[in-house]
Amino acid sequence: MVLRWLIAVLVMELLFALASSQKRPSHYPDHPPLKQYPERPITPDYYPPATGVKPNYHNPYASSYKPVPVEYPTPQKKYCPNIGGLESRCRPAKDCAVWYDAVRATPGTACILGNGKGHGLCCPDIPINGRYQAPFKKPNPCDEGIALDPHVEHIDLVAVNEAALAGQSQMESMIATEKRLTQKNIVVRKGSGSFTHSWVFFHSTADSVKISNSSLYGVFAVMQLSRRYRIKPEQIECVANRFRLRDTILFDTCPIHPNCDERTLASPFRTMNGSCNNAHPPGHTPWGLPKTQYQRALAPAYADGVWMPRLAKDGSQLPPPRLLSLSVIRDIDVPSDSDSTFVMQYGQFIDHDMLETMESKSADGLPVPCCTDEGNFLSEEDLSHGKCIPIEIPKDDPFYSKFRQRCMQFARSAPSCRTDGRLGHVEQMNQNTHFLDLSGLYGSDDKVAAELRTFEKGTLKVLRRPRHGYHHGMDLHPPDNDTDVDCALSRAVTGIDPPEEVKCFRAGDNRINVTPYMVASQTVFLREHNGVADLLATLNPHWDDERLYQEARRILIAQMQHITYNEFLPIVIGRAKMQQLGLLPLQHGFSRDYDENVNPSILNEFAAAAFRFGHSLVPGRQDLINQRRVKERDILLRQHFFKTQETYTPGNLDKFLIGLATVPGQRVDNFFTEELTNHLFEEEGKGFGMDLVSLNIQRGRDHGLPGYNAYRVLCGLPRAEEFHDLLDVFPPRIVEKFEFLYSSVDDIDLFIAGVSERPVPGALVGPTFQCIIADQFLRLKRGDRFFYDLIGQTGSFTEEQLNEIRKTSYSRLVCDNSHVKSIQPLFFKAESELNPVMDCESFESIPRMNLYPWKEADTGASVWNTAEDGVKWSPNCDFEGYNIGSPLRVIDGGQCGRKCIDTRGCNAFWSKDGWCSLKDIPKGLRETKSENSICGFLPWQL
Ligand code: HEM
Repeated sequence: MVLRWLIAVLVMELLFALASSQKRPSHYPDHPPLKQYPERPITPDYYPPATGVKPNYHNPYASSYKPVPVEYPTPQKKYCPNIGGLESRCRPAKDCAVWYDAVRATPGTACILGNGKGHGLCCPDIPINGRYQAPFKKPNPCDEGIALDPHVEHIDLVAVNEAALAGQSQMESMIATEKRLTQKNIVVRKGSGSFTHSWVFFHSTADSVKISNSSLYGVFAVMQLSRRYRIKPEQIECVANRFRLRDTILFDTCPIHPNCDERTLASPFRTMNGSCNNAHPPGHTPWGLPKTQYQRALAPAYADGVWMPRLAKDGSQLPPPRLLSLSVIRDIDVPSDSDSTFVMQYGQFIDHDMLETMESKSADGLPVPCCTDEGNFLSEEDLSHGKCIPIEIPKDDPFYSKFRQRCMQFARSAPSCRTDGRLGHVEQMNQNTHFLDLSGLYGSDDKVAAELRTFEKGTLKVLRRPRHGYHHGMDLHPPDNDTDVDCALSRAVTGIDPPEEVKCFRAGDNRINVTPYMVASQTVFLREHNGVADLLATLNPHWDDERLYQEARRILIAQMQHITYNEFLPIVIGRAKMQQLGLLPLQHGFSRDYDENVNPSILNEFAAAAFRFGHSLVPGRQDLINQRRVKERDILLRQHFFKTQETYTPGNLDKFLIGLATVPGQRVDNFFTEELTNHLFEEEGKGFGMDLVSLNIQRGRDHGLPGYNAYRVLCGLPRAEEFHDLLDVFPPRIVEKFEFLYSSVDDIDLFIAGVSERPVPGALVGPTFQCIIADQFLRLKRGDRFFYDLIGQTGSFTEEQLNEIRKTSYSRLVCDNSHVKSIQPLFFKAESELNPVMDCESFESIPRMNLYPWKEADTGASVWNTAEDGVKWSPNCDFEGYNIGSPLRVIDGGQCGRKCIDTRGCNAFWSKDGWCSLKDIPKGLRETKSENSICGFLPWQL
């Protein structure tokens, strides 16, 4: 028995080394002659030569900008044109977001809103959603008529346990390798680009490291089984899947999730970790929790059926990702003629909400070195821990050769415990809640959430800016005092010593710090939370901190979901696809399509390829544009990854926000900024960073994603038999490149193909990414019982509340949570005659949610205090900038209202004869409780 054991371990070591060996450059086949990739042009200004016509976007910040006067028709009874044969009517622009392309294509669609005050757009009602369409079917490799070889039919639990024991010694040898690396001082050096990638970007908690490292036992067991019994890759999943982990000696390597209890199911609030968001049957591992696996649209394509990255169809190595990146990707600026840069930024913001892949770490939680610090490959022995698949850089790489770099760090994503509790191929781990629940702001578990709270009046911790006192418009995220990452800029960049106060920000997801644009867009949500919590406290003085926090969080998540489905998704996947899948937001009423059988978890294809479409939209510079829409300056991305300093300067956050709204966005194409393809996470002074395109391609292989052709079929396109069959969705020059680089049309990687597809009309992405992204957002809607417009759930809003939520737009959030004074109503769309910059005080054009429907039944008159002279005031009157509780006798207009007392349309108060009243009570609001009192409550919108 012992002998059998020893032999098994030795054989396994040998095989594992073989499996790992594909990481080394010597195993890459000879690749096409070296001069196949012209040097990437880096000049940013390029206009498509085919037409010779400049894109017709309005680029106001480039010259001295004066707002274009928009000529609006005089209000008439009926002046909106038909759009696509449908009757349209004048509405606030955010209600026309899903129609925007059709509105632009139809003349005469700018209009004056009914009250004659605001500018709006003509558009039809939001179309009725298509009939129920099911998400992709769960792939089951054993369903596909795979016959097992007779010798594997007999594999039993004893054999599995033997393999698991062998796997344990494999684990020990892996840990020994990791220790040896540390002893040899082969580490990922702090401050290097690789360190920023592996440690700062791919942050991991001790808990995730523990789970992922212990789930490796199951992986190694299956690998051993496969090798011992020579199980064919296509059979391994069927064989291993017959065994439940809990029946093997590895029963305790994965956590057990408790069933949903009655109390949680009855709560109107989401749990912090998303448990019970999808009510699952008892005993079933819940879906969508942090530190659980991604699901798949297609069964994985691992070379060994377990974890080895995919090989070409003919068994050779696939082309190195950097070669693909060099050959297919260019740095050319082709601005969108209708979108703003915010499409990109919002995409990244919700990406951080939905997912954070766990990258492998060593047993003691440190980044795993995959290359030498000098950019060379490690020896075979040093790589034998098997957690690396470093990226080969061609010897004559036009960029990296200048720096003698041959090896790009790439640690594999960590394995996750499988949701089915069985043995099988590797699944990757998402560390965040999979749901669209603002976990990037609030955190994905109770511990992080608690660290971010003040536990006072429902608010989140902030860094309050000096001199601005109690004003959310200036608050920043609190500093992250637990990190040793330095988010300040060096003297070499700024000419001054790094200020001490500059820290990385602390949030639900640490990638908030990745760029200043990201900081700015998330800070708006932070401030909105605290603003909403304040107002709820004023409306409901009897609510305690917990209630205020949860109610504000529930509202914020609903606002974010509304923005996502109303403003963002129509741009990315197009209105038609949304209608087909039932994803269009409703104009009124509730949706009823929650289905507990729909798995809301993030698809591996979405995380590792499709939703990375946004990388093509990233501009190389981030612009600071002032209130007059004049560009003041820009910052170069390579100097500002994980540098927050710019956002500390008062006023800069506003300028970044205006930059996001003003700079035209990019198109999804094979054009990427060099800031990402040569300078990602560049270490200061080095001159080079990493290549995000190479990382994305390698990540797809690491996660076992099948080739692009398989996804064409999944998405309803015909399978390409030959390369020229791809001409249906690719430009000829891309097909030529693919044909040159790949030996089979089945080999093409999903990411590089997805970004190179011609966009679907009315959408930003091509048909394959469109179909994967649409399926994901269908799951996130239908598999979430807290989805904001659902009826009949414990967390459902009342119709009145829901109608207020529907008033949300990102432009309004910016207006209310920054010092930006004017903005276009559709933040995701470039400023234009249809989407002109409007005063933030124009509540008709940029409506504001009113929180009054959240006021609970009046708790009695005791909430009012009466001063000596009879002036009534509320003890909870504690508005932005002022606490009017003390100077009652000398109240004047400026003191008893909001800071914006003298501005038009503001819900301000004024005083007369000792009574403080609303300055200007609009029609229909005369009955509000705040009349004739100082500030019983402050309606959110008047
Ligand atoms: C300056 C902007 C951005 C930077 C620096 C950046 C950087 C990165 C990096 C380094 C990765 C990990 C690559 C790897 O697998 O090793 C990544 C992953 C990803 N990025 Fe971006 N990205 C940016 C913008 C965006 C945008 C705009 C989107 C979407 C619209 C996006 C979506 C994603 C997704 C979905 C992933 C996978 C995340 C995960 O697995 O945890 N990114 N990005």
